Amino acid sequence: MPVTIRRATIDDIICMQNANLHNLPENYMLKYYMYHILSWPEGSFVATTTDVDEPQMDQLSLEDGKGQETKLDPNYLAPGEKLVGYVLTKMNDDPDQQDQAPNGHVTSLSVMRTYRRMGIAEKLMRQALFALNEVYGAQFVSLHVRQSNRAALHLYADTLEFEVLSVEKSYYQDGEDAYAMKKILKLDELHPKNFANRKMAEKLEDDFESDLLVA
Ligand SMILES: CC(C)(COP(=O)(O)OP(=O)(O)OC[C@H]1O[C@@H](n2cnc3c(N)ncnc32)[C@H](O)[C@@H]1OP(=O)(O)O)[C@@H](O)C(=O)NCCC(=O)NCCS
Repeated sequence: MPVTIRRATIDDIICMQNANLHNLPENYMLKYYMYHILSWPEGSFVATTTDVDEPQMDQLSLEDGKGQETKLDPNYLAPGEKLVGYVLTKMNDDPDQQDQAPNGHVTSLSVMRTYRRMGIAEKLMRQALFALNEVYGAQFVSLHVRQSNRAALHLYADTLEFEVLSVEKSYYQDGEDAYAMKKILKLDELHPKNFANRKMAEKLEDDFESDLLVA
C-alpha cells in the first residue's frame, strides 16, 4: 500500500494522539496537539495509507441522534485513510530563550509498529525540518531522546545527522536519562526531494547487524 506524507491538520489530532498513546510513554493532552497545529500549521506531518479492507462509514462514525457524527475508530482519519505515523513540531517560544536564534523543536515522532523500517520516520522528519527552516526561519532544531531508544538514536544521529549536545539526567518521568540533540538547518541541504529515493539509489540491503548501535 502506498504511503502518503502530508501536512497535519486539526482534523488529524485525535488520530495523532491515538498513535502517540500506542507508541510512546510520553503523552499529551489534545489541546497541546491543537496548540502545535494552530500556532505552526506548516510544521507537523502525518503519514497515511489507504486500507484494502476499507471500513464502511458506519464502522467509522456513529450518529448521535442530533445529526452529529462521532468517530469510532481512532486509527482512521477518514473512510479508508489510516494514519501510520506522525511528527509533531513547534518553534521554541520559551520567553527565557528569546536571545537564541529562531529554532524549532521536535515534540513527538512515531510510526505504527507494522509500518516501521520502511523509511517513514525519516521522510516525516525531513519534511518537518525543511518546513521549520523554510516557513518559520528555524536556524536549528532540537529534540530529546531516551538513551535506550536504539531505533530513534539511529534515525537522529546517523540518518539525519543530529549531534548530541548533552545528557539530561532523569529527564523522563521513569528516571531515564535523555540525550539532548541538535541539528543546524541549512535550506539547500534540506529539500526533501534530495532524499526522495535515497534507499533505492543506494541499493541498501536491510542489514540488521549494521543498525545496532554501540552502547
Ligand atoms: C523511532 C521510529 C520513529 C523509527 O521509525 P521508522 O519509520 O521505523 O524509521 P525509518 O524506517 O525511517 O528508519 C530510519 C533509520 O533508522 C533505522 N532504524 C529504524 N528502526 C531501527 C531499529 N529498531 N534498530 C536500529 N535502527 C533502526 C533504519 O534502518 C534507518 O536507518 P538508515 O537510514 O541507516 O537506513 C519508530 O521505531 C517508532 O515509532 N518508535 C516508537 C516511538 C519512538 O521511539 N519515537 C521516537 C521518540 S524520540
